[in-house]
Amino acid sequence: MSEESRGPQCNIRPMPDTAVAATPVEEEIARAVRALDVAAVRETYRRQNEFVVLERWLPPSLIGRLVTEVERARPRVHRSYIPRHKKGGSVGYYTLYAQAPAILSLYRSPALLDFVRAVTGAPVQPCPDSDPHSCALYFYTEPGDHIGFHFDTSYYRDRRYTILVGLIERSSSRLVAQPFKKLPGREPMEVRLATEPGTFVLFNGDNLWHAITPLGEGEERVSLTLEYVTDPGMAPLKRLFSNLKDSFAYFGLRSVFARR
Ligand SMILES: [Fe+2]
Repeated sequence: MSEESRGPQCNIRPMPDTAVAATPVEEEIARAVRALDVAAVRETYRRQNEFVVLERWLPPSLIGRLVTEVERARPRVHRSYIPRHKKGGSVGYYTLYAQAPAILSLYRSPALLDFVRAVTGAPVQPCPDSDPHSCALYFYTEPGDHIGFHFDTSYYRDRRYTILVGLIERSSSRLVAQPFKKLPGREPMEVRLATEPGTFVLFNGDNLWHAITPLGEGEERVSLTLEYVTDPGMAPLKRLFSNLKDSFAYFGLRSVFARR
């Protein structure tokens, strides 16, 4: 049962309109999945070397809940700057675990997990609680905020998949993605897109060469990423390296090593 579907069991008064409209996250995801042709999504994902975009797929009502939690998390943003690679802010899993129940419900949604398994054909599961990257918010709020081209390399023993969800998009920044970068025989393909609220991008992080282009003056872009793995195991040295990378490039030493 999702966090939000728990509630008083014997409330005999009529529910106010606002409560009736507050559909649980799980129900919203299940409905969104039912509206899709999952076989067609799987085919596109496979044809594009494990990469698919569903533009404005998630409903505004769900995105509204998530954006409320973005505003709650905003004071906890940790900004980092790595010359010639990235500049921007982020809020990691430990903070979201404590403060963002709708984001956590989305991350752990059985309907979403089933959908990701159906599209990828992989037995994915959420990352272990020790991973600050499990789900995280990324804030592009100052001119020049960006991230250069990279793979979301998996330090786990097996595959890791990334979902990117657009939440706030008032910018000229673009997600630029090259799905065939590691396939030298293939004709190159490049996708450039604004990650509008509700836009959903699913990919195998080891395959997709991707970047976010620099933010302009007076612009803002906020996205959410959800990470899933096929094997939650990670060698201790790789875990240490991964945590150090997360500390300096994303969430800060205190956030990564203090744990919740
Ligand atoms: Fe990435």
